[in-house]
Amino acid sequence: MPVDDRFELVIAANRLPVDRVVAPDGSVGWHRSPGGLVTAMESVMAGRDGVWVGWAGEPGEAPEPFDEAGMRLHPIALSAEEIEGYYEGFSNDTLWPIYHDVIVPAQFHREWWHAYREVNERFAQVLAEVAADGATVWVHDYQLQLVPAFLRQLRPDVRIGWFNHIPFPPVELFAQLPWRAAILEGLLGADFLGFQRRTDAGNFRRACRQLLGMTVRGDTVTADSGPDARLVRAAGVPISTDFKAMDRLARTPEVRERAKEIRASLGDPKHLLLGIDRLDYTKGIRHRLKAYQELLADGALDGSETTFIQIATPSRERIDAYIELKEQVEGTVGRINGEYSTIGSPAMEYLHRSYGREEMAALFLAADVMVVTPLRDGMNLVAKEYVACRYDDQGALVLSEFTGAAEELREAFMCNPHDVEGLKQTLLDAIHAGPDEQRRRMRRMRSAVRRHDVQTWADDFLSALEALPPAQHPGRGTTMTDPATTPAMNPTDPTDLGPTDVDPQDLDPVDLDPGLRAAIAAVAGLDRLLVASDFDGVLAPLVDDPSTSRAIPGTLEALDALSQLPGTTCAVVSGRDLETLLALTGLDGHERIAAVGSHGAQSTTDDTSTQALTPEQADQLAVLDAELSEVLARHPGVRIEHKPAGVVLHTRGLDPTVAEEATAEALVVGAEQRPAKVLRGKDVVEMSVVDANKGTALLELAAARGSQATVYLGDDVTDEQAFERLGPHDLTIKVGPGPTAARFRVTDATEVLEVLEQLLSARGGH
Ligand code: ADP
Ligand code: F6P
Repeated sequence: MPVDDRFELVIAANRLPVDRVVAPDGSVGWHRSPGGLVTAMESVMAGRDGVWVGWAGEPGEAPEPFDEAGMRLHPIALSAEEIEGYYEGFSNDTLWPIYHDVIVPAQFHREWWHAYREVNERFAQVLAEVAADGATVWVHDYQLQLVPAFLRQLRPDVRIGWFNHIPFPPVELFAQLPWRAAILEGLLGADFLGFQRRTDAGNFRRACRQLLGMTVRGDTVTADSGPDARLVRAAGVPISTDFKAMDRLARTPEVRERAKEIRASLGDPKHLLLGIDRLDYTKGIRHRLKAYQELLADGALDGSETTFIQIATPSRERIDAYIELKEQVEGTVGRINGEYSTIGSPAMEYLHRSYGREEMAALFLAADVMVVTPLRDGMNLVAKEYVACRYDDQGALVLSEFTGAAEELREAFMCNPHDVEGLKQTLLDAIHAGPDEQRRRMRRMRSAVRRHDVQTWADDFLSALEALPPAQHPGRGTTMTDPATTPAMNPTDPTDLGPTDVDPQDLDPVDLDPGLRAAIAAVAGLDRLLVASDFDGVLAPLVDDPSTSRAIPGTLEALDALSQLPGTTCAVVSGRDLETLLALTGLDGHERIAAVGSHGAQSTTDDTSTQALTPEQADQLAVLDAELSEVLARHPGVRIEHKPAGVVLHTRGLDPTVAEEATAEALVVGAEQRPAKVLRGKDVVEMSVVDANKGTALLELAAARGSQATVYLGDDVTDEQAFERLGPHDLTIKVGPGPTAARFRVTDATEVLEVLEQLLSARGGH
């Protein structure tokens, strides 16, 4: 709700959802802006109070803020030079090609960068003015990558999220940018960074590690150093469409009638193909037209009974690559029609304009085959919109494997648009698919989009942002925590079960999600199964003093009972050193449950490659030990913990000034010595000379025991490495809130116990 024109939820995007358009007669009108960002965020904001800050689409002074569709729109002014430098130049002629696999060469101009910086700073200033105390600010897309850091300087009290609607490039391409470090640092001003695919988030994290030398663990990057150190999460949160709204619209009599009219107006073709895209070289329009043209030329398709409607929304019309594309596409359309159309039955219908949602739905409903062939696309919402409109379970989707959508719409007719022969064959397969095949594929795709619609996407993003511990907000007077190194009591954390001597009988009965129950039953029947779990925060509640951490009664017993069943391997996998883990779990000498410590670097079983230190690593460890001992000598009360592959500095309970100084000195040691990992947690700095991870350890153990699947339960960032490495047939379960790559989520250790007990009983134990 607005507080004196300050808002709890603030959206920032390059464009407002509407563009101001001045007609030749001087009258002013507002037109819907192009692109997927606007479609998605319009739906999201329809149900929420908030303000949307963005450019109104024309040069000059910004109009006054105004209300539209229950939302406040706050225009930002851009001069004609800024549009050229910031928008057309840096955003769309430098970043856009680099972020889309350099389909056309990127242009680098310093003055464009300066304009980009200035406009980003202006956005941040306006955001700082309109955000209420502690507000959530959601910044969108590649045009505004510097906004998070600028805004954090101005308003450290707000939560900042950023979502990239386009791909994030592999580091080899990103590294070409002369301003690469400034861009990464700009983004790292956010608390949470969302990307279309996990691969994109991984590319971003790799860029932070390789180009800025930052520490990356799981989906988290440690930004800044010293007392300003913060954890920034970067994860895949794929965008979607408003399934219900599109489905509802497509079912209306008006839209169904219009769909029939569209077909009739084209001479009721036997096959109607459809492409709808912004006129952008990333969309693969040339490639699809070439394939279509060849199919007509080969005689595989007959122009008198086939029509291809290509809608190409005007986009970025002053940029050379777009001007060239328009000429080429229009030339090809002309040639196709000239050769293959007959009167009343066009081989192609080409439309270079925007349409309302009803007309779009009617087009989707009319088309037998939707052709989506980008060479690279963050998601491609058109593909999901087509599926959402096909309530009749008919129609076929041809989809490029280089779209984000391809990861979810697996029942589409997949194609590589660079492979013309392959694309031609895929088009024919889609055209000739019978009603039963269409129904089977469409049902599955609809179920995927229905389950994961735009509201789920926005909820996932915002709850990931809200779920970050308040400790990540230095402006609120707290320091960063790292749950992986320092299990700490968080009174607001629903996973906090309090004292460890809880009797499970006293806990509320739990009812697991039906999907999870089914997945447990499925893996329980396998001949050979690996069942593994993290310790702190999963088997044991998080406690203030890590040395008092204990598993809740029943969890280790359930693992023990599982380990007695044939074909069942059990393991506890932890970041703690092996000795401590064995002491805390009582697993020392346990012959059936393996204990894996130090994030996979130590183990009680030979079936994981416990890494012996190389001579270089041993030397580095000795230097770290010596340097941290000096920190200890300067600051009495500090404690040093020696691990086989690392060393940890503890400052818990010390006078805050002493703790701060010792921590800062330790981080300097880390920066100078550059061990494989430096983790700063609450009251600890942990350094390790090896980069072992839980994922590798689990894969090795599963392979050595011939396990057909792995069940893994974890709660923190290091467990994400395991979740990411395991496959779709494995059962991965995240405990507690926050973004995750796991397939399922449970809320707390009580539900962990329930999972283990259900697995035990389904596998024939007691
Ligand atoms: P991008 O964001 O790159 O433009 P998407 O496919 O993700 O690509 O999103 C495009 C959005 O614009 C979709 O919601 C689509 O329905 C809409 N759209 C595309 N072309 C038109 C058009 N000619 N008229 C109206 N809406 C369009
Ligand atoms: O996500 C892709 C995107 O670039 C959005 O940022 C934008 O809203 C849309 O496509 C349209 O591009 P433009 O705003 O440059 O017309």
